[in-house]
Order: sequence, then structure tokens, then C-alpha cells
Amino acid sequence: MKSKKKLIAGNWKMNGSLAVNDALLKGLVAGLAEAACDVAVAVPAPYLAQVQAAVFGSVIAVAAQDVSQHDAGAYTGEVSAAMLKDFGVRYTLAGHSERRQYHGETDAVVAEKAQRALAAGITPIVCVGETLQERESGQTEAVVKRQLAAVIHLNGHCISEVVVAYEPVWAIGTGRTASPEQAQAVHAVLRAQLAAASEHADRIRLLYGGSMNAANAAQLLAQPDIDGGLVGGASLKAADFLQIIGAAR
Ligand code: 13P
Repeated sequence: MKSKKKLIAGNWKMNGSLAVNDALLKGLVAGLAEAACDVAVAVPAPYLAQVQAAVFGSVIAVAAQDVSQHDAGAYTGEVSAAMLKDFGVRYTLAGHSERRQYHGETDAVVAEKAQRALAAGITPIVCVGETLQERESGQTEAVVKRQLAAVIHLNGHCISEVVVAYEPVWAIGTGRTASPEQAQAVHAVLRAQLAAASEHADRIRLLYGGSMNAANAAQLLAQPDIDGGLVGGASLKAADFLQIIGAAR
């Protein structure tokens, strides 16, 4: 029996402007008087104040795309969990594959980021996922299990406070989605790993991400261990994102 609400989170990545965000957020707020699921948008840090004001009083929660693994101090360019909290941030991505790939984030760094977020009262959405080469060489399970293991025992925090997003790298921005069966198979592996570590495994939301769109969302979200979506490109169009949200119940 699963009573948890699904979560649909948009990841805008490095897209947007004051004007573009304004139009998108107005469209979302107008289209979302209510939602059967939880909804969030992960926005570039400079727009946090704009987004916080625009979604105020709506069902949309503010999310960040990254958080520093440090608390405060001489870390030029970094944004701390406490700063995010100041802007009403409810969730932050941690260890998105683009951060792992282009910024050298290791499993240990991702765990520190998740820990910082939790300490500030922000829910980390920890991203895991294999590359095409890893999938083709039969390493998918080993890779996602290693990435999840790094965050499964965070000091003083129950893993049920974390959201996990499975995002196969080969499906991100490529239009090549994992099939519902492929995604469910990996989600089942993650769920089993969580179940071995915590009696609360059933409460943990496992999101799928990677070319999720208005056409394929319902099928993916119907899988027993898929509890929501992390949506890139399709979250930049209000109509598409609203359709995905409508498919999550
Ligand atoms: P796309 O939906 O554009 O493939 O991006 C997925 C993603 O990386 C979300 O974090």
C-alpha cells in the first residue's frame, strides 16, 4: 500500500530570463489550482526570489539545482543550503549527472551536499544513473547501487527524508527515454536496496528522469516503483509540464 503523493519536479537547468520565467510561472500557476501530486520547479539560483514570489500561495514548491557541500565561508561562487532556505527552497537536486560529469562531483561530494540540505531543512533529490557505456557493459545495477549507497546512511538522518531520482544519462536530453519496463527494473533494484537499509523504504519517492514528456509520462508513472518525475526540457513549456503533472496521480 503506497499512500505517498507522487512528485513532479521540473529542472530548468541553465535556461530562462526574468521575462521568460514570468510567462512560464504565470501559465503554471493559472493551470494548477490543485494538483493530485506534489509539484516543484528547480530554477537557476539568481531567479530564486522571482520564483518564490511568483509561486507564493500556489501548490508549486521552489527547488534549487545544486547546493554547496560547505556550510559557509571562502567558497567563491557557491550557494549554501542556508541561503537557499532564505528563499523558501523546499527541495534541491544533488548529484545531477551534469554536475557529476562536468564538475567532477563524486559520490562523497554528493553525500555531503545531501547532508547539508537536510541539516537546513531542505529535501535533497539525489540523482543516480548510468551512462550508455555502463549500461551496454552490464554495469547499470552496480553503478546506481554505488551511487545510492553513498547517501543511504547520512548522519542523524533517515533515508526516508531523501528523494531519489533515477536518470539514465543516455536518456537525458536525447529524446531517448528508458522504456517503462527498463525504468521500473532499475527502480525495483533501488527500492530493494532501500528496503535492506530502512523499514521506511516504501515511503521514499523514486523519480524517473530522462526525456520524460507529455506523451510518455503516464506510462512511466504507472509503474509500481516510479513515484514521480524529474523533467528537463518538457518543464520549460507550461502546457507540457501541466500535462505531465496531470498524469501523476
Ligand atoms: P530531459 O527531460 O531534458 O531529458 O532532462 C532530464 C533531466 O536531466 C532532469 O533533471
